[in-house]
Amino acid sequence: MLNLDNFIVEFDKGLRTLFSQAHSVRPYPDAGLAEGGLSDNDKNKAAALMRVNHCGEICAQALYQGQALTARDPLVQRKLGEAAQEETEHLAWTAQRVHELGGHLSLLNPLWYTSSLAIGAFAGLLGDKWNLGFLSETERQVGAHLQSHLTKLPVNDTKSRAVVQQMYIDEVQHSEMAIKLGAAELPPAVKLAMQFSGKVMTRTAYWV
Ligand SMILES: [Fe+2]
Ligand SMILES: [Fe+2]
Repeated sequence: MLNLDNFIVEFDKGLRTLFSQAHSVRPYPDAGLAEGGLSDNDKNKAAALMRVNHCGEICAQALYQGQALTARDPLVQRKLGEAAQEETEHLAWTAQRVHELGGHLSLLNPLWYTSSLAIGAFAGLLGDKWNLGFLSETERQVGAHLQSHLTKLPVNDTKSRAVVQQMYIDEVQHSEMAIKLGAAELPPAVKLAMQFSGKVMTRTAYWV
């Protein structure tokens, strides 16, 4: 349940998500891979795509934190926390890759963070089965989005590709975890609304 202690802890996590460098316990998926000899155009495109992915991870952090604030079952809370740790690693991997490509992170991250936190907290208030259903569908949509990026990233950009590939594997596992914990199937209209808001975020973050 929501209480002041939890709120303060999550608020602190929010500030760190937005303003400090994330760390990865696992090795970076592209560690040991050489830069693939990218043209300036390729670099700009890859940086924009990885900025979108970083922005998605900011949203994932906020969603998980919002959901953890309002989840009821301690097991669900714990599993959300474990998945959030992997999302923190995704944040670290994508941020590093954007910087390596000479790009910048989205200027609108505080806005995405705040709106995603509110959506996550709302999902949590609906009860654990809907909370998990929302999580599972989010991860499924993120997985599909990452697959689409594997077709858009420059072929030579093996480093970004390695990061996106590992993120895809993790997101599929997060979705399956939510289903195992009892996720409800969301109504089609809700899934469509989620797709629409995801498109708004991805198209905006590509440029800003
Ligand atoms: Fe992620
Ligand atoms: Fe995930």
